[in-house]
Amino acid sequence: MILVTGGAGYIGSHTTVVLQQAGYEVLVVDNLSNSEANVIDRIEKISGKRPAFEEMDLVDTAKVDALFTKYPIEGIIHFAASKAVGESVQKPLLYYRNNLQSLMNLLESMNKHGVKNIVFSSSCTVYGQPTEDNLPVTENAPVQVALSPYGNTKQVCEEILRDTIYAHENLQGVALRYFNPVGAHESALIGELPIGVPQNLMPFITQTAMGLRQGLKVFGGDYQTPDGTCIRDYIHVMDLAKAHLIALERFMKSNFKKRFEWFNLGTGTGSSVLEVIQSFEKMSGEQLAYEIVDRREGDIEQIWAETTIANEELGWTSELTLDDMTASAWKWEKYYNEVLKPQAEA
Ligand code: UD1
Repeated sequence: MILVTGGAGYIGSHTTVVLQQAGYEVLVVDNLSNSEANVIDRIEKISGKRPAFEEMDLVDTAKVDALFTKYPIEGIIHFAASKAVGESVQKPLLYYRNNLQSLMNLLESMNKHGVKNIVFSSSCTVYGQPTEDNLPVTENAPVQVALSPYGNTKQVCEEILRDTIYAHENLQGVALRYFNPVGAHESALIGELPIGVPQNLMPFITQTAMGLRQGLKVFGGDYQTPDGTCIRDYIHVMDLAKAHLIALERFMKSNFKKRFEWFNLGTGTGSSVLEVIQSFEKMSGEQLAYEIVDRREGDIEQIWAETTIANEELGWTSELTLDDMTASAWKWEKYYNEVLKPQAEA
């Protein structure tokens, strides 16, 4: 059985489906702080199999340990974390306590109960703004001083993971550094579900087209990029989910080089904000109301991944395009608002 923490959340729910379809039993643990309990029903609808589910907070050391006694856990994929950059600046202690303590509790219990494998959800935010000669970014690019407490929790968690793995020779793990995850499962039964006003680009676009937001603000049109807007490496959440299965099996099948590894998960292609908007308009047939405004504080200008190491060493390659991402994100937004939400409220 695989423990998926944060399995009711955005990337966790998609990964749970992929694991189930590969034949694994999954235990989802989630405190539902940023997700809905009925995501579990929808996972079951897609895979035909209901994952085991425990609603609990991983900050509780005794409860985490009890999980390992109750379930035959063989491997862990750890998504559960607070992830809003702005909120982390306002509430740093909440972020440090939640993100660091949860990981430490899991590592302590794994070690005690003889569970060897852990996949950790990290972020390309650890690279900050790479210098020109480090673009696209490889796994060997330097980690830079974090711009927010959230970003710092990812860096410190990677260090906690590395140090703990090297201190205990039965442990092994991998940090997956995601670029910008977007899109949704093709069924439109699961997808990204931001609580409140979305901070990220794709849900803001789809909610604007849905009529839930008045208009999209494009943050900055005067960057040193071909069209003046920021460049990111958007990656389809289903490609990302498959990478977790591959990373987990790499350890379970003892097919790894070092006990602690890290990989970049991106497509290798950068897209500007305006290119994302164009793709969205093409795939949805909707006209998007947007205006270019001032830069957002803390934004980096451009970043995209060098994928050679993930392709060759991890054996994973992204397959879906930006058009697949915008089309599936739009399908999910519509289905959620027109069908799933009214159903849940009825
Ligand atoms: C952000 C976080 C990153 C985190 C990731 C999680 C910051 C600085 N970085 O990445 O640490 O790991 O989310 O998903 O917050 N944009 C607009 N209008 C909007 C929203 C976004 O123009 O309403 C632009 C941004 O300026 C940026 C691009 O869209 O150029 C992507 O933004 P976003 O989706 O927030 O992701 P990141 O900032 O890359």
